[in-house]
Amino acid sequence: MTAFDASQLGSWEQDVASLAGMLVHEVKNPLSTLNISSQLIIEELGSPESAREQRTFRRLEMMQSEIQRIEKIVSSFLQLTRPQKMERDSIEVSRLVEEVISRNREAIELEGVSVLFQPGKVSTVAGDSSLLHQAILNLIINGCSAMPAGGELLVRVIETTYRGFPAVVIEVTDTGVGITEEAIPRIFRPYVSTTEGGTGLGLPTTLRIVRLHGGTIMVESEPEQGSRFSIILPAEGQDK
Ligand SMILES: Nc1ncnc2c1ncn2[C@@H]1O[C@H](COP(=O)(O)OP(=O)(O)O)[C@@H](O)[C@H]1O
Ligand SMILES: [Mg+2]
Repeated sequence: MTAFDASQLGSWEQDVASLAGMLVHEVKNPLSTLNISSQLIIEELGSPESAREQRTFRRLEMMQSEIQRIEKIVSSFLQLTRPQKMERDSIEVSRLVEEVISRNREAIELEGVSVLFQPGKVSTVAGDSSLLHQAILNLIINGCSAMPAGGELLVRVIETTYRGFPAVVIEVTDTGVGITEEAIPRIFRPYVSTTEGGTGLGLPTTLRIVRLHGGTIMVESEPEQGSRFSIILPAEGQDK
């Protein structure tokens, strides 16, 4: 007689996640080769003349834009499954946010959005600056997408207490379309997206990163008025 306790098996979800991560990794290289090759063919074709050449040209362009879409889906999936490990540096949050904004200000303003940044003198946070950079940028991108006709984005860094502990908050407030109460819990699930060209992986990835830092995200929103997403991170020295 064999006795077997299934609890020793470990969770298959973890295996699926790492297999999926491997698959995505393997797919990335051939995809970028395809992307570069299609770009080169388009360049070699020059300016199409005959109707047939124009048709070929359009099809190639379509192929390339679909390849780029797959690349985007694949790399955001990788972001969702990848960060198992993280750095633990001492991060000056206002400086990090400033950097995210200044690197992207031009692109944001091109979309008709003006960004107002209010840094704060706050405690440092123990964490991974490139992961946090990505989390902050995701919220900024979402805020911009919520204002297709342009508007204002307010980004603030403040110190507060959360559940009795000192915490640093990064607030991203938009004056966009807003989110209904029922929809709020759904938007953190993978592949939920209402934006054109969106992957629906931004918020799940952002939440994952914030949780890796022992933090959480708060959402306040009013349809047609706008939304505020707040990343709440434990101040350094406060982790259990
Ligand atoms: N600031 C916001 N205002 C309104 N809706 C938002 C905002 N941020 C996120 N959402 C909603 O949540 C969905 C999921 O966001 P996300 O996971 O970043 O995916 P994506 O941006 O690719 O659509 C968005 O498609 C949108 O419907
Ligand atoms: Mg997004």
